[in-house]
Amino acid sequence: MFRTAFLFICVFLLFGGCQLDTGVKVIKMGHAQVVAHPVHQAMVFLGKRLEEKSGGKIKVKVYPNQQLGTERELLELLQIGSLGMTKVSAASLEAFSPEISVLGLPYLFRDDDHSAQVLQGEIGKELLLSTEKYWLRGLCFYDAGKRSFYSKTKPITTPADLTGLKVRVQESKMAINMIHGMGGSPTPVSYGELYTALQQGIVDAAENNPPSFYNSRHYEVCKFYSIDEHTAIPDVVLVSTKVWNELSPEEQVWLQEAADESAVYQTKLWKEAVEEALREVQKAGVEISYPSKEPFLEKVAGVYAQVFQEQKQLEALVQRIQQTNK
Ligand code: GCU
Repeated sequence: MFRTAFLFICVFLLFGGCQLDTGVKVIKMGHAQVVAHPVHQAMVFLGKRLEEKSGGKIKVKVYPNQQLGTERELLELLQIGSLGMTKVSAASLEAFSPEISVLGLPYLFRDDDHSAQVLQGEIGKELLLSTEKYWLRGLCFYDAGKRSFYSKTKPITTPADLTGLKVRVQESKMAINMIHGMGGSPTPVSYGELYTALQQGIVDAAENNPPSFYNSRHYEVCKFYSIDEHTAIPDVVLVSTKVWNELSPEEQVWLQEAADESAVYQTKLWKEAVEEALREVQKAGVEISYPSKEPFLEKVAGVYAQVFQEQKQLEALVQRIQQTNK
């Protein structure tokens, strides 16, 4: 807590999101994952491509591991221009764009092709720019696969297994609604604090994609991973509009292209990372199960109804998503 607050203040006071160092622009980029995670590698690739495109005039310095703060804090640093770029889960953007919360609805996409068509099409573009009024410009999506439950005590084979369990959720109203709708007790905890929260029993279970379950080492505490794939929430790469507006039109094109290329690279890394993660956690004694999705799907209508009651405008967006390439 204090370490984060201290770093937060240092960054705020000492640097801008985009520093000019001997004629070279250095854009600082912070995120919450460890360096072995495919999203970190994709961000390093983004920096390399931007440096190449700009002939060495623009560099990106990546700060992993929540060193500069939680996803929420990183977004706030972007807003004031103290940090140039970040990569967060779309769930962390909910407070800045009600539209983007749609991506947290369970079983929203029919399959991977459907999600790619939505995210890379018109809807995806609208969602990326929907946070601009909050000084956050989305550049591209990264694949964050599908999220499934893991628990300390038992496999989650049906929603009934969630009864009485404190399930960690991202700091997202949508996630809270989903866990409520499925019968568990949602408890928001930041990603960086989750290992300890699981260890100390503050929460009994959590949910995430395989590379994050593995790289966060949550598998050391949770020995049951149930692949129900209830959500497919992508990650989003963002730039502070304060930094974006300081770039020339040509530099903006380079940055956008570098981000798009890094997204293609990240998709390639992702598949291998999922396979490796499942292999490694199994080796470490995790019991992986593939429950039927039917009982989870039965809970979806209730979750959607609750969400539409709170956010009427999402109904039309969900319809557009469902009609995409049908
Ligand atoms: C995913 C996502 C992260 C997020 C994490 C979480 O791993 O890629 O950006 O922090 O989920 O559950 O908080």
